[in-house]
Amino acid sequence: MRPAQNFVVLCSLTMAACGSHGEHGGHGEHSSRVVEILPATEGDWDLVPLKDENPDPDIVEVKLEAKIAKFTYHNNQTVDAWTYNGSMPGPLLEAKVGDRVIVHFKNSLPESTTVHWHGLRIPAEMDGTLAMQNPIQSGQDHTYDFVVQDEGYFWFHPHMHTDEQVARGLVGAIVVRGTSDALIKPASEKLILLNDLSMDDDKIVLADDMMTLMSGREGNHVFANGTIRPILDVIPGETHRLRLLNASTARFYKLRFPGQEVTKIGTDGHLLEAPRPVSDILLVPGERVDLMVKFAGNSGESFDILSVPYERGHGATGGEFPVFTVRFGEGEARESQPLPVTLGAFSEPPSPVKTVQIELTEDPMDGGHSGHGGAGPTFRINGEAHPDITPLEAVLGTTEDWVIFNNSEMDHPFHLHGFFFEVIESDQRSVDYRAKQDTVNVIAGETLKIRIHFDGFPGEWMFHCHILEHEERGMMGQISVK
Ligand code: C2O
Ligand code: CU
Ligand code: CU
Repeated sequence: MRPAQNFVVLCSLTMAACGSHGEHGGHGEHSSRVVEILPATEGDWDLVPLKDENPDPDIVEVKLEAKIAKFTYHNNQTVDAWTYNGSMPGPLLEAKVGDRVIVHFKNSLPESTTVHWHGLRIPAEMDGTLAMQNPIQSGQDHTYDFVVQDEGYFWFHPHMHTDEQVARGLVGAIVVRGTSDALIKPASEKLILLNDLSMDDDKIVLADDMMTLMSGREGNHVFANGTIRPILDVIPGETHRLRLLNASTARFYKLRFPGQEVTKIGTDGHLLEAPRPVSDILLVPGERVDLMVKFAGNSGESFDILSVPYERGHGATGGEFPVFTVRFGEGEARESQPLPVTLGAFSEPPSPVKTVQIELTEDPMDGGHSGHGGAGPTFRINGEAHPDITPLEAVLGTTEDWVIFNNSEMDHPFHLHGFFFEVIESDQRSVDYRAKQDTVNVIAGETLKIRIHFDGFPGEWMFHCHILEHEERGMMGQISVK
C-alpha cells in the first residue's frame, strides 16, 4: 500500500472514534484543534524585555530560567505551562548588532532541555542543538555566550523534545536592532509572537494521536504575545510596523488585514531590497515577517486581523479566527515617514560549487521512530529519519544550491540553522524578488531551489521541518560545515 492510502484508512478510523467536531467535545484531536473564538482582550500586550544586568553598553547579560509556572489567560483561567522566567511566551531578548550576549540559563524543568537561538548566526557550539552540546539536565545551569551580527526579529526555543516543550509554552522572541531603524519611521512598532496551546480541562495537552502527529498539533487557543485576541489601538491614518513571528509547533497563519494597505518590508533575516505591497500573508512555523500597515477606518470602530483557512495537506486548514483586533481611537494621527525606495542591500554570493538534492517524504505507518514508541508516522529527508542520518558536508566559504523536493502530501516548512538562504526558483510560484530567509514553506509536491552561502561558522548545523512533530519524528538532517 502507498503511504497516502494508509493514511486515509487510519484517518477515517480516527474520525469515527472521535465523533463530533464540536468545540467543546472534551478529549479528541478534532475538538482541541478548532480555535475557540473568544471576545477581544483589553490591556497591554507588549512583550516584556529581559533585564540587562551588565552596565557595558555593548554587552547584554541576562538570566533565563526554564520552569513550570501558572499561565493565566482568558477570564483568569490558569494552566501549568512550561515557561522561560515564568511567562508564556518568554521575555523578549533585546540587543543591537555587534553586542555580546551572555545568557545564564538554568533548567528548572523536570526534564533536560537546551536553548536554540532560531535565525541567529552564531558559533555552532552556542546553537543549542544536541549535535553540538549535551542536554542541560534538570537542575543544571548552562551559559550561552555569543555575538549577534544581524539585525532582525528572531526567537528562542528548546531543541530537544522540541514538539512537546514548545507545545507546553517554551518560546521567546529576540530583536536585534541595527541601522535600518533609522530608515523606517512608523507611528509605532509592535513585536508580535503568535503561538497556540491545546487546552483540555485546564491542562495543556500534547499531540498524541495519529491525526495530530501526522499534521502537527494545532491548539484550540491562539495567542498573540500570550493574549487571546488582544487590541491594537490606532488612530485612523496611522502607519504601524508590525513584526510577526510564528512560534507555533505546527499551525500556519494566513494573515488577512481586511481593507488595509499592507506593505512587506522584511523577512526572517533581512529587509527586502524594496517595499512590496501584499494582501494575505502566509506565516509558517518558525517564520517571521516585517510589515508596514496603514490603518484606514473611523474613530470608534474596530475590526479583526484574521487568520483565514489555508489547505496545507491532509485536510488541515487551520480554520478562520481573529488573531488580534484593531481599534480606532480619536485624536491626531502619530506621524510616520514614507518608506525609502530602497531598503536592504543584497550582495552576490560566490557561484555555487554544487547542487544538493533534498527529498522530503512522509510515512504514516512506520511508527516508533526517534524513540517515540508506539504507532505513528515517520518523516524522512533523503530516505533517512533522524537520528539515523548521514550528515551532509559543505566547505566553509562556499555557496551551494539545494533543490528541495517535497514528495509528500502536505506542506513542510523547511528551516536551516546558522545561515540565511535565498529562494532561487520554484516549479509552483514565481520568485521575483530577493529575500533572506532561514525558514521557507515547501508546498506539497513542490520543487524549490534555495541558494546557501556558508559564510559563517564551522560546525554541525541542523536543517529540518519546523512542524515540530515532524522534526521529532525524523524530518531533520545535519550538515557539517568545515
Ligand atoms: Cu526553530 Cu531547529 O529550529
Ligand atoms: Cu533554528
Ligand atoms: Cu513537516
